[in-house]
Parts: sequence; C-alpha cells; structure tokens
Amino acid sequence: MSQESTSLSFIATPANAVNGEITVPGDKSVSHRSIMFGALAEGTTHISGFLPGQDCLATMNSFKAMGIEIEGPDAEQNVTVYGKGLHGLTAPEKPLDIGNSGTSIRLLSGILAGQRFNASMAGDSSLNKRPMGRVITPLKQMGANIDAAVDGTPPVVTQALGQDQQLNAIHYDLPMASAQVKSCVLLAGMYASGTTSVTEPGITRDHTERMLTAFGYPVTVEGNKISIEGGHKLKACDIQVPGDISSATFFMVAGLIAKEGQITIKNVGMNPTRIGAINILKQMNGDLTVMNERMAGGEPVADILVKSSNLQGIDIDERDVPLAIDEFPAIFIAAACATGTTRLRGAEELRVKESDRIQAMADGLTILDINCTVYDDGIDIIGGQITSGTVDSQDDHRIAMSFAISSLRATGAVTILDCDNVATSFPNFVALANQVGLSLNQE
Ligand code: S3P
Repeated sequence: MSQESTSLSFIATPANAVNGEITVPGDKSVSHRSIMFGALAEGTTHISGFLPGQDCLATMNSFKAMGIEIEGPDAEQNVTVYGKGLHGLTAPEKPLDIGNSGTSIRLLSGILAGQRFNASMAGDSSLNKRPMGRVITPLKQMGANIDAAVDGTPPVVTQALGQDQQLNAIHYDLPMASAQVKSCVLLAGMYASGTTSVTEPGITRDHTERMLTAFGYPVTVEGNKISIEGGHKLKACDIQVPGDISSATFFMVAGLIAKEGQITIKNVGMNPTRIGAINILKQMNGDLTVMNERMAGGEPVADILVKSSNLQGIDIDERDVPLAIDEFPAIFIAAACATGTTRLRGAEELRVKESDRIQAMADGLTILDINCTVYDDGIDIIGGQITSGTVDSQDDHRIAMSFAISSLRATGAVTILDCDNVATSFPNFVALANQVGLSLNQE
C-alpha cells in the first residue's frame, strides 16, 4: 500500500560540542489522539503544536477518508477539526493507508469496531509485520467483527455492526503494558452498552484518559483500573500539543554525551507516564535540570537544561520500562558512552516496535565496537569507545536518530542506512541536530 522507502542515508561525522536552545516538534501520541477525539466530538476542535510527521498525517488522512473535514497543519502547526460526533463517520471508499503508524492502526481498530460500515487498514512493510492480535482479542470479546491475516498482522478488517447490534462492555486484564491496547479498548467502550474497564500490569501513558476528560467524556481511574461507560458524548475543545519528550530524548542524550556544551530544550511534555528517560538518565549521573514547570492544555510541560556529563552504567529499574518505552534506542547510546555496564530487563515489548529494537541496536553497537549481550527481554551494554562504520536503521526512525547522535563520541564517520522513516516522527531532526552542533549530512 504505502510506497516502500527509498534509501536515504545519514552520514554523521564526529563533533565535539553541542550548544543552543531548541524546541522539538509536537508529541506524537497527543497529536494522533487530538485528531481522533476532534473527529468524534460535537463541534470544532482547534489544535496547536500538532506534529506534522507522516504517522500523524496518516491518522488525519484516515479521518478525512471517513468524511471529516480537517484544515491544516499550517506553518504554525495549527489544525482545525470539524467533528461530527461519535456516529458521524462515513464508510471510506478504499482501504485506509496507515503507513508506519502502530498507534493509528491500533486505536482506529477500537473506533472502527463500533461503526456500522466495513473498513480495512494496512500500512508499510514494517507495520504489516507487527502484531494486531493484541487488539483483536479484546475487540472480539466485545462482539466486534474484526480480523487480521492468519499470522495476526495487518490488514485489519472490520465488518459493520448490524442495525440492532451494539458492542458489549467487557473487563479486560491487559496481558502487556500497552497504552495502544488500553486506548483501543477504551475507545471501543464508548460504543458499548454498559461499562468497559481495563487493568494494566504497569502504568502506561495516559493521554487517552486525559483527553477523554478534556473532551467532557466521563472516565474513571482507580489505581491501575480504568473504566468508561458507553453512550456519552465528546464535546469539542482546544488542544495544545506539548513538545514530544521522545524526540527531546535524542537531544538530552546528545547534550550528555557531547564532550562539551549545553542544550536547552523548550516546552517538553512532562506527563508523569512519559518521564522514564529522565529518571534513567539522571540515575546514570546525567546533568539534566527540569525548569519552568507549568501546565498547558491539560498536560504538564517544562524546559530541560542538559549539560555534558560523565555517565555511569546502571541496572535500569523495570518500573521505568513502560515510562521510557520509546526512548531505549537513545538510552542505549548513553549506555555505550557510560563507564561500566548498563543492564536492561523486562523490556520484551521492544522486540515488536517499528523494528526489533533490542537486536537492531545490538547489531549497530557491535559494528561500532561496543560490547553488548542480548537477552529475550533486554540487553547488557558495556560502555566503551564508539568507533566508525555503517549501521542499518532497519527502517526504524528511532534507531536512525540514535546512531546519528552516537557520532558525538565516535572516532570516525558513522553512516546510517535507511533513514527515510525519521520523517514519521521528527521531520526537522537533521536541521535541529546540525543547529546544535552535530555534523549530519543526508545522501
Ligand atoms: C503509544 C504507545 C506505545 C508507544 C508508541 C505510542 C501511544 O506503544 O511505543 O510509540 O501513543 O499509545 P505500546 O502501546 O505498544 O507500548
């Protein structure tokens, strides 16, 4: 369906110092949800700070294909969504192209399960390998007519509910700590009769719960149990998307591992369910200062000052794993630059991201002469001297950006293959990296 990536490479040559003040693009998770909730709300939703990455544009295009009028993003990343209410979507004329975005396909599964029209979703070669059984299992329990390929991968196909048919409310114990699965079940719960609840084995990002509240839809959170009753309405509101802490992490690690300098990253989302990377990097002796903490659009934000640091290897606290799940590729680069060994366990979910992130990072680190040992659910990384060489991003945006910043401590050029996907989450990454002092060329 999507165009397969051409083959953009990054050539990162060593640089000593990083300096400056930057603002990273909007949060990916919040941007996706702002379109989804805006489309299903009654009234007009104004979004500022939207992430114009390919993943969020795939969500936007999917809702346009289901009859929702959306304007933007403009040059200031403002978006206007003309919502049509929970029952206002119309049948898409063709299969929805979800590109590379796991969040879009899994959250949309919950929404499409409640519709009275047929739909089908698939994406690029990476997304089409990722597990969808995790959302299909609970949705089938709710009575949805939903299926994927025999091996549980996309396409995900939903059949219309019958005229008199409604989804059933269920209680679902999430088998894995996944905000996408939690959100999928809660979104389907808006279309079910009765109260749907989920319990999560570890705290995961709570943007869905926060945004339900912002849109006036009642949701109850009691410890690790979240409940939602079907049949209420979403009312349009204004959403200010904070800077994405996942994107900021590349610059946190860059600032820490650079031999000299300091970077200030402005307006970063500091939702407590997302700050695992800050906890981990501080435990590694990283000099990070969180400043100007404030609330913006229902989410806490702050500025982060990062200074060059002598990092130490640590045993990563498993409780931080879901709170830092997207940040591990960058944290692994910090570990490669630290004194001693960093050990991660309880992170088997990393194997089913845009790539198998444990193996992809281990392969690249090994090429750059960093010793590591891979486990089913984690990795040991022994800090050392990053050398030079050609590594493969395996078509994964976060692997590409992580090896780009590794060049700050490399003895020679690091070439990274297959970097097109950086545009899925961080379209201006190369410009910002060069602005602070990295030396990154694209070929
Ligand atoms: C996301 C949840 C996480 C994360 C992904 C975004 C979300 O996925 O890795 O990038 O927006 O809900 P899982 O739910 O699979 O952990």
